[in-house]
Amino acid sequence: MPCSSIALSCNLSKQIMCGIVGYIGKHKAVSILLEGLKRLEYRGYDSAGVAILQQGKLLVAKKAGRVEVLAHETAKHAFTGTLGIGHTRWATHGGVTDANAHPHISSDGKFALIHNGVIENYSQMKTFLTQKGYTFKSETDTEVLSNLVAYHYAKESSGDTSERFLEGVRKALQHVEGTYGIAVLCIDCPEEMIAARKASPLLLGVGDGEYIIASDASALVSRTQNVVYLKDGEIVHLTAKAFSITTLDQTEVTPIVDTITWSVSDAELGTYSHFMEKEIFEQPVALENSMRGRFSEDGSTAVFGGLNLTASELRQINRFMFCACGTAWHACLVTEHLIERFARLPVEVDYASEFRYRNAPLDPNALFFVLSQSGETIDTLAAMREAKRKGYRVLAINNVVGSTIARESDGGIYQHVGPEIGVASTKAFTSQLLVGAMVALYVARLKDMSFADGTEYVKALKGVPDLVRQVLKQAPAIKEIAKRFAKANDFLFLGRLSLFPIALEGALKLKEISYIHAEGYPAAEMKHGPIALISEKCPSVFFAPQGEIFNKIVSSMQEIKARKGPIIVITTEGTEFPEGLVDAKITIPQCHEAVVPIIASIPVQLLSYYIAVERGCDVDKPRNLAKSVTVE
Ligand code: AGP
Ligand code: GLU
Repeated sequence: MPCSSIALSCNLSKQIMCGIVGYIGKHKAVSILLEGLKRLEYRGYDSAGVAILQQGKLLVAKKAGRVEVLAHETAKHAFTGTLGIGHTRWATHGGVTDANAHPHISSDGKFALIHNGVIENYSQMKTFLTQKGYTFKSETDTEVLSNLVAYHYAKESSGDTSERFLEGVRKALQHVEGTYGIAVLCIDCPEEMIAARKASPLLLGVGDGEYIIASDASALVSRTQNVVYLKDGEIVHLTAKAFSITTLDQTEVTPIVDTITWSVSDAELGTYSHFMEKEIFEQPVALENSMRGRFSEDGSTAVFGGLNLTASELRQINRFMFCACGTAWHACLVTEHLIERFARLPVEVDYASEFRYRNAPLDPNALFFVLSQSGETIDTLAAMREAKRKGYRVLAINNVVGSTIARESDGGIYQHVGPEIGVASTKAFTSQLLVGAMVALYVARLKDMSFADGTEYVKALKGVPDLVRQVLKQAPAIKEIAKRFAKANDFLFLGRLSLFPIALEGALKLKEISYIHAEGYPAAEMKHGPIALISEKCPSVFFAPQGEIFNKIVSSMQEIKARKGPIIVITTEGTEFPEGLVDAKITIPQCHEAVVPIIASIPVQLLSYYIAVERGCDVDKPRNLAKSVTVE
């Protein structure tokens, strides 16, 4: 039976994603679950469901569609129980239907189970369970788990129902391959819940006479800020009064209770229309937080508390490897540019999803970095584990304190930008650029960068929040530009050097939230193919700040104009272009090379946001996407 041992109370923590919530306590579970699911919806939102265990019965409501649809459905039932589980789904196996929505009930009717992740050997398990007489109502991989728990529970002959419940879950999990965050209810144990995880995030909120299980702190922070981050392979067994944690191989775990340092208002919209908008406008403060306390007293370099590497160890490093996915991968590309430019050391950047399988030969003196806002992206986590398996030291640049990547890395740098809820990453991206620029500075100062150049670089970084504020003031003008171009079906984003990754990011942002086809290219590469797309219907967004290759970029713009392509240019204040060349101009202040990518990101974030709003898109919950991809 669970016991109520809480060993330590300490530390920091923050939030994450992908749809599980469970409640056990004295209050009506359904409303707490629905509130949690609403806050989790940004992680996956194609269907939602709850199961409440009351008066010895499992009552289930589940629907394809948003949490509102589920709320409407639950209102039709008398759900009064104080024990329940809820799920928002991001379908991997089986279409988006009511039947495939979670919870899944075992065919003997005894267990309700919710799951984030993928059961890779579900097909063999399904055949096995079918032969044993279990039946299936859905096409999901998850339903295998609920029947497998039922099968092992039925087989378990020793112990009371509570012990058999735990053993049933444990044995089922020992037989599955894949990833999971699960929560399970059993009708024979009407005052208990079990939850477990492997490669899908799961936290236990320790409340006042109640516990909340969630895949993301945002689902429980309105009830408690005390949490236990469960580790891979751990199972938590709960009653309303106590809990115990064991591992899959039955070792007892002493829980550590952390305190979440942000409050529920940080994860709320306030006066903004969308989280993306809020997070774009939060950037000056977020970036200040990313830098706070991270410069040397003499103001000539960066300092990081958590690298767990001495300066002399770092000096031995002769190569860097960076891995990430999506937007974070774009931040790696900018960091590559800055480290190569200022520290004169080679950097390799790879998609985490490719790196994990390509068995790349690595330099023994390479330092490995992973970047991940959530710290839960499964491909990034797997790339990190692969690098560690090969004996590399891996550092993480990560926003969510206590995330799996943060915990498993050998050290790293927290971004400290607070919860990012909008699916389209904005403040986390610019903060990754900022932290990357600080890493480049730190390494450069260990090598050949002079004190004077370091001081100038630090001054430039410190000035970033104000420069961002200046660009944000142009929001109304950018909104008008967005209105003019919102009907286009194709866009090109063109930039060079450190702004090529910002072109990629601009294109990704636009397609994510407005569903417009967009491509990012190095500006000069455009003539080797994408120029075929150019017509008066395909606008190009050019990054053309003043600098060494400004004139080359203007030549690329001329090539587009000669083919009647509309041009939106992002350029340095005071820059003039030949008559008729640009159709819209957005300016950024003159700034240090290391910070240009951060400042140039702001106009494209605003442009994509306003275009998506103009097109009536659901900005914070774009179709098919989830905030954090915790499945492969
Ligand atoms: C960003 O707008 C995207 N939604 C996506 O590309 C994201 O950056 C990617 O999935 C990586 O996420 P992470 O930073 O949490 O690892
Ligand atoms: N693989 C499960 C399904 O498709 C769970 C997906 C999820 O993480 O939401 O139903």
